[in-house]
Amino acid sequence: MVNPFHLGWFMSGSTAQGWASPWSGDIASTWGSGAFHVRAAQLLERAKLDFILWEDLYYIPHHWQGKTDIYVENAISTPRLDTLTMTTFVAAQTSKIGLIATVPNFAYHPYALARLFSSIDSLSGGRAGWNVVTGTTNQALRNFGHEGLGETEDRYEKAGEYVDLMKAIWNTWEEDAIIADESTGRFADPAKVHKLKFEGKHYSFDGSPLVSGRSPQGIPAIAQAGASAPGRRLAAAHSDVIVGVAQSVAGMKQYREDVRNTMIELGRDPDDCKVLFLITPMLADTQEEAELKRANVHRQAEERVEIELADIGKRMDIDLSVLPMDTPLTEELLAGLHTTGHISYLAKFVKSAGGRTLREMAVESYIRMNWSEIDLYGTVETVADRMEEIMAEVGGDGFLFSQGNGNHTTRYMVEVAEGLVPELQRRGLARREYTSSTLKGHLQEF
Ligand SMILES: Cc1cc2nc3c(=O)[nH]c(=O)nc-3n(C[C@H](O)[C@H](O)[C@H](O)COP(=O)(O)O)c2cc1C
Repeated sequence: MVNPFHLGWFMSGSTAQGWASPWSGDIASTWGSGAFHVRAAQLLERAKLDFILWEDLYYIPHHWQGKTDIYVENAISTPRLDTLTMTTFVAAQTSKIGLIATVPNFAYHPYALARLFSSIDSLSGGRAGWNVVTGTTNQALRNFGHEGLGETEDRYEKAGEYVDLMKAIWNTWEEDAIIADESTGRFADPAKVHKLKFEGKHYSFDGSPLVSGRSPQGIPAIAQAGASAPGRRLAAAHSDVIVGVAQSVAGMKQYREDVRNTMIELGRDPDDCKVLFLITPMLADTQEEAELKRANVHRQAEERVEIELADIGKRMDIDLSVLPMDTPLTEELLAGLHTTGHISYLAKFVKSAGGRTLREMAVESYIRMNWSEIDLYGTVETVADRMEEIMAEVGGDGFLFSQGNGNHTTRYMVEVAEGLVPELQRRGLARREYTSSTLKGHLQEF
C-alpha cells in the first residue's frame, strides 16, 4: 500500500510567457493583473493540493546573442511580477492552499526578508513558504550590486548562513511569547522576546527582535531545489519540501535516498521533509488522442527552436547562439562552454549532446519538458496507474505538476485538477479534504 501523494504546482512567475500559445485566453492584456494566479490558486485549492510554488528570476535574461531581445520580443520569462507580492495577493482570495514564493539570498537584507515572509505567513493564516535560491546567473547578482555568483561551494556556504540568520530572526519571538491576556493586561511576555546577536563569516546582525512578531508557522515552510552536492546539503539541512527533477525512476529513487541519508547525517528525521518530483502529464480522453497530442508538441517544438535554446541558455547561464545549429556537437565544440550557474545542467547538456545537432537537442528538450522525462501521457487512468507504480518504486513523497515549458494555461490546470486529481482521490492517493490550515500541516499530514 502506497501512502497518499503530496501534490503541488510549480508555477511560472511569468504568465505573459504563454501569451502567444493556444488556449491562453486574455493573458496578453491581463498578465499584470494577477487574475490568472488567483483563478489558478482557487482551482488548485478545490483539488486540495498542498501548495503552489512560484518560480522567480531577478533579471531579464540576455543569453541569446548577448542581448535581451529574444526574451522581450517573445515574453520568455519576462515580464514577471514579484512573487512575494503575488503570494500576498493570492492569499487574500484563498484559504487553505500553501503559497511558496521564490526569493534569492542576495535581494534583501535578512531582517527585511524575515519580516516580509512573517507578514505573509500572518496574513495567510500560516500558509507561507520560502523557496530558497542562490541565483543562477551573474547578471541577477549584479542588479543588486554584487560581483557575481562565485563558486558553488561559497555560494551555498553563504546561503546556509543566510538561512541560519533568517531562522534566528524568526525565532526572536518564542512560540508562546504572545499571551494577549486581558485579565493581566499583558500582550506578550518580554522574557520570551529576544534581541539577536549573530556573528557569521558572511553576515552579522546585532539588533532588535523581529518587528512583525511571531507568525502562525513561526518559521515559514522552506523549499529548495539544489542539484549540486552543496545545494543538496543545504536542502537536507533546512527544507520542509524539496523539488527534484524526474530524470528516471531509478534516478528519482536515488535522489530521494540521498536526501534522506543526508538528513539523518545532519540529525534530522527524514520524514520531516517531502521530496516531490516535477512532472508534466499529458492527458487526453483516449490513448490515441494522447499520441496525436504528442505529435502536435513535436511540430510546435520545431517551430520554436531559437526560443527553446534561449530558454535552455538562460537556465545554464550560457549563450548557446555561439554554437552552430545544424552541425553534430562534438566534444571540441562543447569544451569552451563554462558556467558558474547550473553546473549540473551544463554537465547534463554536454552528456546528452552525444553527436546530435543543437536543433535536435532543442526539439528534444521542448518535448521532454512537455511530457516530462518519465513518460506520462494518456487517459487519467493510465497516468494515475503509472504515477502509482513510480511512487511505489521511489518510496515517496509525491509530485509537483508543472506546465513544462512555462506557457501556463487554465485549460491544462483544469485537466489535472478536475481530471487527474479526482482519479488519484478515488484510489486514495490524494487528499479529499484539508485536515490542516497551514502549509507545514499539509506537508506533515502523511
Ligand atoms: C525545479 C526547479 C526549480 C527552480 N526554480 C528556481 C527559481 O525559481 N529561481 C532560481 O533562481 N533558481 C531556481 N532553480 C535553481 C535551483 O535553485 C538550483 O540553483 C539549481 O537546481 C542548480 O543547483 P545548484 O545550485 O545546486 O547547482 C530551480 C531548480 C529546479 C530544479
